[in-house]
Amino acid sequence: MSLTMIESLLEKEIGVSAEAIGSGVIAKAVHLRVAACGLADIKAYLKLVKTSQEEQDHLIEAVVVPETWFFRNKNSFAFLANYVTGEWLPKHRGDRLRVLSVPCSMGEEPYSIAMALMDAGIGDDRFHIEGVDISDAALGKAKSGVYTEGSFRGDDLSFRKRYFEPRGDVYQLNADVRKKARFIRGNVLDRRLFMGQDPYDIIFCRNLLIYLSSEAKRRAFETLDRLLATTGILFLGHAERQAAIEWGFAGIPEFGVFACRKERRKRENGLKPDLHVHSHPCQRQFEKAGKMVDVEPPLRPSVVIDEVFEPEILSEQPDSNEPFKAQKDLFNEAQRLADQGSLLSALELCETFLGENPVHVQAHFLMGLIHEALDNEERAEDFFNKAIYLDPNHYESLNHLSFVVEHRGGKERAVHLRRRAQRISENR
Ligand SMILES: C[S@@+](CC[C@H](N)C(=O)[O-])C[C@H]1O[C@@H](n2cnc3c(N)ncnc32)[C@H](O)[C@@H]1O
Repeated sequence: MSLTMIESLLEKEIGVSAEAIGSGVIAKAVHLRVAACGLADIKAYLKLVKTSQEEQDHLIEAVVVPETWFFRNKNSFAFLANYVTGEWLPKHRGDRLRVLSVPCSMGEEPYSIAMALMDAGIGDDRFHIEGVDISDAALGKAKSGVYTEGSFRGDDLSFRKRYFEPRGDVYQLNADVRKKARFIRGNVLDRRLFMGQDPYDIIFCRNLLIYLSSEAKRRAFETLDRLLATTGILFLGHAERQAAIEWGFAGIPEFGVFACRKERRKRENGLKPDLHVHSHPCQRQFEKAGKMVDVEPPLRPSVVIDEVFEPEILSEQPDSNEPFKAQKDLFNEAQRLADQGSLLSALELCETFLGENPVHVQAHFLMGLIHEALDNEERAEDFFNKAIYLDPNHYESLNHLSFVVEHRGGKERAVHLRRRAQRISENR
């Protein structure tokens, strides 16, 4: 009973749902706090935590999940940099881009934003980032800019050489990046958070909503909506975009990027929703027939998967690519899940599909895309390679493969692949 009441208190204060975070996590945190306070049992602890703000803060620290790392879902950062250089800056000459990262945890996310924008050549005076989190401990680490190995994941850590100084077994972030972000303690459920301030052009709110109750999610979306500029973009975690769409934001159909525009207000104003944000001038879209067309010559591949398509018309190998209806449904479902950002589920389905349809070009391509979005570049390379082995003229696989290969140090092969893609594009 006391534990249930503590769970309710936590839900009211920071929104975490015991169901989502796991009742065991809360029970463990409570037991730690009972011991730390030298109390006899949970009942005595409930009494204390109900009346002491200080103890509530300790409990919150014990419950929160600060898990994060640099360039988590790196596609989002590439998309951000392209959007800011290609769309935002030309429309806002002389303005300073306002970015909010909430929750920012130990700073890896806001600093990744800073590095991505700096790498894109965006001047120091053209952007500013604010990082907000409920945890003082996490904010303390963010301000120190000192990170251990756990903050660096994935196979491209080239940014570490450019922006960090190794100090024994830790890494110190350089002052140029650190000065781009300011850290503030705050609660995303707080209706007064940044009240009266200018709205943000970009908000990152990733990997928090999944832990919140439905009511807390609603309150969080209210805050985000209030803080986001009318033309602003909201970045979410891969399992969170759908909830934002259901709440009223407009999903941006960019593969591996889980972002939304502020659609609702546009609808209220009677404007046509602007669903397609092109991260790049070379935006590719699926034709009804299921093939991709280039609108302009390609640079960095960028894929929109917003049409469920029929697998059998995608390949030039009709025999091996005409799965039965159940199989087609499986592939379409994998495609749909990938589109809505449920990458792991999409991966599982696509793997099952490939088990039955091992020479299906488009399934290999989709596997490549999913692995690319998950930062598994080695696996992505394998699948794109298989796709072009099965269909040497598979333009999108060639393009994606060229970028993955280049990223992994294969400059020459990347150039060769890009030329092949170029020739295919010219012959179409
Ligand atoms: C998993 S981290 C996410 C960090 C980062 N956005 C990312 O995706 O890597 C979740 C963070 O949410 C913070 N948090 C939990 N409840 C919060 C609330 N109500 N308001 C603000 N921050 C909160 C926690 O302290 C923790 O640092």
